[in-house]
Amino acid sequence: MDLEAAVSGHYSSGRLEEVLLGALRDAGVDPEQFDPVDLFPADELHVGGAVAAHELAEAAGISRSTRVLDLGCGIGGPARLFASQFGAHVVGVDVTEEFVHTATSLTARSGLGELATFAVASALDLPFDAGSFDRATLLHVGMNIEDKSSLFTEAFRVLTDGGVFAVFDIMRTADGDLTYPMPWASTADISFLATPGDYEDLGRAAGFVVDGTRDRRELGIEFLTKMQRAAAQGTDAPGRPRLGLPLVLGPDSGMRVGNLLAAVQAGVLSPVEILFRKP
Ligand SMILES: C[S@@+](CC[C@H](N)C(=O)[O-])C[C@H]1O[C@@H](n2cnc3c(N)ncnc32)[C@H](O)[C@@H]1O
Repeated sequence: MDLEAAVSGHYSSGRLEEVLLGALRDAGVDPEQFDPVDLFPADELHVGGAVAAHELAEAAGISRSTRVLDLGCGIGGPARLFASQFGAHVVGVDVTEEFVHTATSLTARSGLGELATFAVASALDLPFDAGSFDRATLLHVGMNIEDKSSLFTEAFRVLTDGGVFAVFDIMRTADGDLTYPMPWASTADISFLATPGDYEDLGRAAGFVVDGTRDRRELGIEFLTKMQRAAAQGTDAPGRPRLGLPLVLGPDSGMRVGNLLAAVQAGVLSPVEILFRKP
């Protein structure tokens, strides 16, 4: 099986849309018509949730009418946030078909279908012309990408001159063993962690200028600690999980989050933001 098929297999459950719509209903939200904010607890598949996505968008200079390409868009949480809170026009691509289908359905139900659209595509081979976007974003995707050189080359190609590629990934910050499962990989064979320096070098090799690097370890520890506590408290009622990331991460989400938290606390991994600019 090739890597992208294995990654897609890792993230697919076959019934995610149904589960999310049911959880919205249980939370007292109309699943046919809801505010994007209602789904933020479950659709931001990265450390720091909506707060981190909002801060990344601000740092990247996303604003009204900016054309944004969200690489590895998941179920569209960041794309809906960029559209609803910044007025951006967003295209999200992802290799996981179930995520793209779910992203499209949830976006229509939250009234953002005109501003955010989604397609199945690899970040390493983008179906867009050169210079099609003002901004590109990548939130917690690079950990599943071995060929990061092609990732940067493609992001550079589809951006306009002066465009920004905003990356927010879990990166390796020291040597040390890791325990799997992690949220992005059950085993090490689909996990490709690189250091902030590796990302910066690959970005420069593609032609980017590095505009800033920010280690978000404190935010990571706080967010993951809260998630672990919530997982330990269980659900409100048997068989009716709360609206939250465990709906997407699956039944062993507590273990995955615990393993990541331990690595972040040990200083081996950290959520890191890097802004690249196309000169
Ligand atoms: C941890 S999720 C993050 C989703 C989203 N960025 C978010 O923050 O909510 C990682 C996503 O990257 C996608 N992905 C992994 N490798 C990819 C690739 N080569 N091209 C496009 N998407 C990819 C996965 O399918 C998954 O949806």
